[in-house]
Amino acid sequence: MKTQLSSLDVLRTRTDCLVVGVRESAQQPPSTRKVEKASKGLIASLIRSGDIDGRPGSTLLVPSPGGIQAKRLLLVGVGDKPDIDDFASAALAGARRLCATRSVSAVVALTEIAVTGADLITRARVVTQAIQEASYRFNRLKTAKGKEAARRQCSVTRVSLLASTGQNDAAVRAGIHEASAIANGVALAKDLGNLPGNLCTPSYLASQARKLARSHKLKVDILDEAKMKALGMGALLSVSRGSREPARLIVMEYQGGRRTDPPVALVGKGLTFDAGGISLKPAAAMDEMKYDMCGGASVFGAMVAAAELKLKLNVVGIVPSSENLPDGAANRPGDIVTSMSGKTIEILNTDAEGRLILCDALTYAERYKPAVIIDIATLTGACVVALGHPATGLFSPDDDLAEELLACGESARDRAWRMPVWDEYQKQLDSPFADMANIGGRTAGAVTAACFLARFTKNMTWAHLDIAGTAWHSGAKKGATGRPVPMLSRFLINRAAR
Ligand code: BES
Ligand code: MN
Ligand code: ZN
Repeated sequence: MKTQLSSLDVLRTRTDCLVVGVRESAQQPPSTRKVEKASKGLIASLIRSGDIDGRPGSTLLVPSPGGIQAKRLLLVGVGDKPDIDDFASAALAGARRLCATRSVSAVVALTEIAVTGADLITRARVVTQAIQEASYRFNRLKTAKGKEAARRQCSVTRVSLLASTGQNDAAVRAGIHEASAIANGVALAKDLGNLPGNLCTPSYLASQARKLARSHKLKVDILDEAKMKALGMGALLSVSRGSREPARLIVMEYQGGRRTDPPVALVGKGLTFDAGGISLKPAAAMDEMKYDMCGGASVFGAMVAAAELKLKLNVVGIVPSSENLPDGAANRPGDIVTSMSGKTIEILNTDAEGRLILCDALTYAERYKPAVIIDIATLTGACVVALGHPATGLFSPDDDLAEELLACGESARDRAWRMPVWDEYQKQLDSPFADMANIGGRTAGAVTAACFLARFTKNMTWAHLDIAGTAWHSGAKKGATGRPVPMLSRFLINRAAR
């Protein structure tokens, strides 16, 4: 998909689909008025007949409209005084309807709509993001060929965002470029997430990292189990011992800054399938535990966005990857393992495995002396209970880093909500036999998981993102969301600019 800025004449442009906004009662936007005039009152009559009412998110496709050059006219309700949320949902509805046509090219005039608190750059970003979101498909494991396969695809390949030219063209183009790079990162994160556990194994993720090394000029280092053993990663290796797929520690480096600049470290949980181990999960919806590597996938996605935008900063992405399965060699409840940090951990529940693979990866990350370290993990069901699906859980003892990430989430429309990591919760991790237990009891499960990780990040400026509720959709719309790639990418973009 190629998205560009254009200042074409809406009436004379030859395109497969012209997309314009329709208000409920206020005066129609400029392009809509032009179309209205050229088509001799078409839109007013469709509003009168009730076929389109201008509410945000309503759409109407008009095939072969008279008076204009476009093959199709897509009317998208935008409300009278849309805020950014109304506008984003209208853009997404419009993009979905557009993808349901057989259009290859489209001219989208939604960017011209006045939106409370959103400038043209923001609107261009939102529309670009909406089109990328609507056109994403995961069909690679369906065998249909030819017409049937084509029907499933979104046929749109070229999109022009209409805006009367002005002095800030360059900034708008930059906004579109940014949104496209982020969308590429999101699409990669979704693809990796949607791949099932039998195909997306730790070795597969490692091979994808090597592929990125070539396509995006990253430096990649893959640690196998022997190397991890030599480093003393007893917590990570204890999880993979119950699996036939060998674990991998994937390290990707993007160097866009000076050699000596401390990097931003991103550490993503790459659990390619989480059955729970001996503390086996119930059968219902267990298939969704293929998404337990979405934190790792978001690290891949953010690295791609940083590389495509040639950001002037250094990033190191670390993805500890393993399966968690029951087996004769698997962790038993009560087992005590020694982490790379030297601290011992009593494994009271083998299903709390994410923190076991992350703690060793976090300790490993220390050698990069990162400016900040952010881990991203589908860590706890408790986080889903606390925040549901709209918000990622954000945990950090550092107020500045927390605020920075929250703001990035807001502006990228990929929001987080802050949760505590107070010392008061630490005692829930007390163990009679080891330095700590790997679970903290029934209450505040998302917090005690974060408190566990906090014990391994004392020497760094650290934040933890629990994406258990935000990384994928269940039910009819089942699929990875690519979150929090937009938030992380925004963070890297802002950091590179300062
Ligand atoms: N990957 C899961 C967390 C999860 C569960 C994410 C459901 C999304 C939906 C994690 O490894 C896990 O199993 N956590 C346990 C921790 C508990 C044993 C303390 C959980 O949340 O139940
Ligand atoms: Mn688990
Ligand atoms: Zn897990």
